[in-house]
Amino acid sequence: MADIALKINGRQVTVPEGYTILEAAETVGIEIPRLCYLKDVHKFGSCRVCNVEVKGAKALQPACMVAAANGMEVFTNSPRARRARKVMVELLLSDHNCDCLHCERSLRCELQELARQVGVTEARFEGEQNFGGIDVSESITRDMTKCVLCRRCVSACGNIQEVGILSASNRGFTTEISPAAGLPIGSTNCTFCGQCTVVCPVGALKETSHRERVWKALANPDKYVVVQPAPAVRSSIGECFGMEPGEAFTGKLAAALRRLGFDKVFDTNWAADLTIMEEGTEFLTRVREHLTGGKSVLPMMTSCSPGWIKYIENHYPDELDHLSTCKSPHMMFGAVIKSYYAKKISKKPEDMFVVSIMPCTAKKTEIARHEMKNDGYPNVDAVLTVRELADMIRDAGIDFTALPDEQFDDPLGLSTGAADIFGITGGVMGAALRTVYEIITGRELPFPNLHVSPIVGLDRIKEAFIKLDNVRPEWAAAEGLEIRVAVTSGLAGAKQLMEQIKAGTSAYHFIEVMGCPGGCITGGGQPRSKDVTETRKLRMKALYKEDEGKKLRKSHENPDIIAFYKEWGEINGHASHEYLHTHYVPRGIYNELTDETFTVRR
Ligand code: FES
Repeated sequence: MADIALKINGRQVTVPEGYTILEAAETVGIEIPRLCYLKDVHKFGSCRVCNVEVKGAKALQPACMVAAANGMEVFTNSPRARRARKVMVELLLSDHNCDCLHCERSLRCELQELARQVGVTEARFEGEQNFGGIDVSESITRDMTKCVLCRRCVSACGNIQEVGILSASNRGFTTEISPAAGLPIGSTNCTFCGQCTVVCPVGALKETSHRERVWKALANPDKYVVVQPAPAVRSSIGECFGMEPGEAFTGKLAAALRRLGFDKVFDTNWAADLTIMEEGTEFLTRVREHLTGGKSVLPMMTSCSPGWIKYIENHYPDELDHLSTCKSPHMMFGAVIKSYYAKKISKKPEDMFVVSIMPCTAKKTEIARHEMKNDGYPNVDAVLTVRELADMIRDAGIDFTALPDEQFDDPLGLSTGAADIFGITGGVMGAALRTVYEIITGRELPFPNLHVSPIVGLDRIKEAFIKLDNVRPEWAAAEGLEIRVAVTSGLAGAKQLMEQIKAGTSAYHFIEVMGCPGGCITGGGQPRSKDVTETRKLRMKALYKEDEGKKLRKSHENPDIIAFYKEWGEINGHASHEYLHTHYVPRGIYNELTDETFTVRR
């Protein structure tokens, strides 16, 4: 691609053809104020905050939309550009609910920051206020009095995830971004992936908070409160305290949770290893049935991601038997805590309160599902996103950066490297193959670093074919079989794979789907970022490093998992089926096949 040369604020700038003015300015360290634009997510030109003056052009130009051109002369800070920018922000504030003291985005709100940046010090205009109701679902809360109509959420839901439940309705001051027909979000085919909450610049879309629920349990002397953080949490929690992404803060995370007062600080990673034992065995059973002419349903699809589960239930209710019956790792963990572990410490299930720290908003809906109960009690009682946990750590006056590194508690805190990569697209598949391949052949998977093999990446679908030869005698029927696996992250890729299954043309035996692009590392409950792509890469790096740093990197080698099964019983056995496996609910597009919705109140 040819380079082009232009001048920005008198500085000579050379950039590849196709760069916008805003991107060209960034290459020389000039940051043009913006609101609706978000790199790699949304480019729509709706707010006009990024307006700049271009020599020879009559009107001001939106820098995020207009391509830089040869010989162009741009002025980002001319009096005209600065005046217009300030007026645009003042107009945005004129119909905004400016009750900032009661907004949880206060001090972390892009509009607030922008108003300060452009010098807004008084409310000069008064617009009509839209004080409609607040829409609260199990996972996501919508407060349209805070919406700035930037439409980032529309892009995240429609273009990236291809679910498309959000769009603009009405006109003028009554314009609202909402599901079709103004339905509450919990009554729609929203997957609750939370990608809209990550990109929202203000307090209009956010997770439904469980913080008070957790504080209350921690203060209750009759509750034994156990906490478990998901694999991806360690890769991102540091960012909430000003640390750069790219490193896992596992030890500080364990220490912070202990300081918050949890009775036991365990690790969802332990349950990720457990999941591999259950899911890997389930896959092997399906393959054996397939090889012996039985009626096994293949491809088998992973079931760790509740956003993905809701998606398949809404859109492909006839294909639910392709899903593994395994609960997700944190739900397995909760079921184990309230049965096996409660008995060990002479407690009843009702005495236990299980808190999951998750990179995900859909997990909040998952714990409310009727199928996620055992012995009459929910497996997990509360889910905190990484953002909520960071708020609790601040609220408790804990200096995260100064904490020492501590270990998770025994016996449900030890994990292998296979568990760490659960947080990344391709990770569950990689972890499963490390175990499954070894069971069939007696040898290690030839490419244990599956993350550098061709199957992992951010393209929608990656595949790998793994030839089985010199297999163990008990697997003689599998000699020469090529196991075909596929991996996707984000629901757009899942849609393609499901269409193949529906048409009977799927070439795969095993498919991993993670509901969010890149996997849990950029899930809907993760810290917000101005450069999602770069942040995703760095969080991946952090988890791969955790995996590579572990002595044990295969789930079946976890000594605590081996010891657990000695007491629990067979893998995929009776207790496992009662506590660790589940079933799914056909829902239809608007949950019309079931009367269950996930709306809490409106
Ligand atoms: Fe460019 Fe909104 S940031 S138009």
